[in-house]
Amino acid sequence: MPELSNGANHIYGEAAFEVLAKAQELERQGKHILHFEIGEPDMETPDNIAKAGIQAIRDKKTHYTPSIGILELRKAVQDEVEKTRGYRPDLEQIIITPGLKPGIFFSMLAIVDTGDEVIYPDPGYPTYGSTTSFIGAKKVMVPLLEENDFRMNPNDIRERITSKTKLIVINSPQNPTGSVMTKKELEEIAEIAEEHDIFILSDEIYSKMTYETRHYSPTVRDEAKERTILLDGFSKYYAMTGWRLGFMVTPVKMAERLKDFLVTSISCTAEFTQWAGVEALTGDQSFIPRMMKRFKEKRDRIVKGLNSIPGFNCLSPKGAFYVFPNIKETGMSSQECADHLLYNAGVAALPGTAFGPYGEGYLRFSYATTLENIDEAVKRIKKSFKDTE
Ligand SMILES: Cc1ncc(COP(=O)(O)O)c(C=O)c1O
Repeated sequence: MPELSNGANHIYGEAAFEVLAKAQELERQGKHILHFEIGEPDMETPDNIAKAGIQAIRDKKTHYTPSIGILELRKAVQDEVEKTRGYRPDLEQIIITPGLKPGIFFSMLAIVDTGDEVIYPDPGYPTYGSTTSFIGAKKVMVPLLEENDFRMNPNDIRERITSKTKLIVINSPQNPTGSVMTKKELEEIAEIAEEHDIFILSDEIYSKMTYETRHYSPTVRDEAKERTILLDGFSKYYAMTGWRLGFMVTPVKMAERLKDFLVTSISCTAEFTQWAGVEALTGDQSFIPRMMKRFKEKRDRIVKGLNSIPGFNCLSPKGAFYVFPNIKETGMSSQECADHLLYNAGVAALPGTAFGPYGEGYLRFSYATTLENIDEAVKRIKKSFKDTE
């Protein structure tokens, strides 16, 4: 075969899908696996949203739309950003995408050139590093430390800025640690970006998924008009991962260029999905507090359970639906521990290193499962360590 492109040789995938494949292979062999590797809510899309999508198909909303999305949804996003972030973006700043992920990919393609530097959290969502690597830019990781509750420290960002820094990626609430950054920290990072004339990409996919605290967006500072880009979506808090629906709020000049990225690559987001999105944003919102109440109970249960396992130490995160226990005292590496859990306890969790080198010594558990499964997993893990003593 002739050589593939440089980009093709540098883009990389996600370990979550690999672990899922391993777990499914074990299931085919008749083993019973408890799943903690999957990054999606264990609830179905609320009925009012699903019905709106079905009705849209019946109403023949199955055609191409403008590449940046239907006006009705862009207007709903405008109201939503005003309600949740406290500023009203112009309609020209708003773009609809099939999931949040394309928002990351296209933003980075529109901002970053080969040789530029991208600052992002580590451990962090793999798409940031993979896209940086695809572009041939330099990956500049900011370690998220347990001592700082896994929050990004603005000083660590400041220290890493060079004349080549083009973009800072922020993700709060965060995957994989569940950390939520403070308003003060986010304001400080927005100031640093302004001082050095750098873009900020703010991945806020878990914005409505916080406990005991509130989400804050660094895009408030310039209202996404100059250098900040707000990305959010419907996947997590409306349990719509498979629908593929997200939105971006960007400076107008960038939005104009992004439009051509969309025309060239995807044409548009599915029309009926967008109508389901209108219902999600404008219809009954009671699903979210109900889901979060359940998640809080599960968080408390899994934190307590993991902390009762010798060698495990787990903080209680303030957002998303992940915990990131420290497993260093087991004497195993992240990968060894994840494999041990999968093969000896039938518990599928991700090694922290799936989210970058600073994830070494940790595991990620998604607690989007039942309380019974959480209890059973803790029991099985304890037994597996006893059996292999
Ligand atoms: C931090 C973060 N950003 C983006 C995404 C992807 O969102 P979507 O499914 O809407 O593309 C995820 C999904 O796991 C995520 O954890």
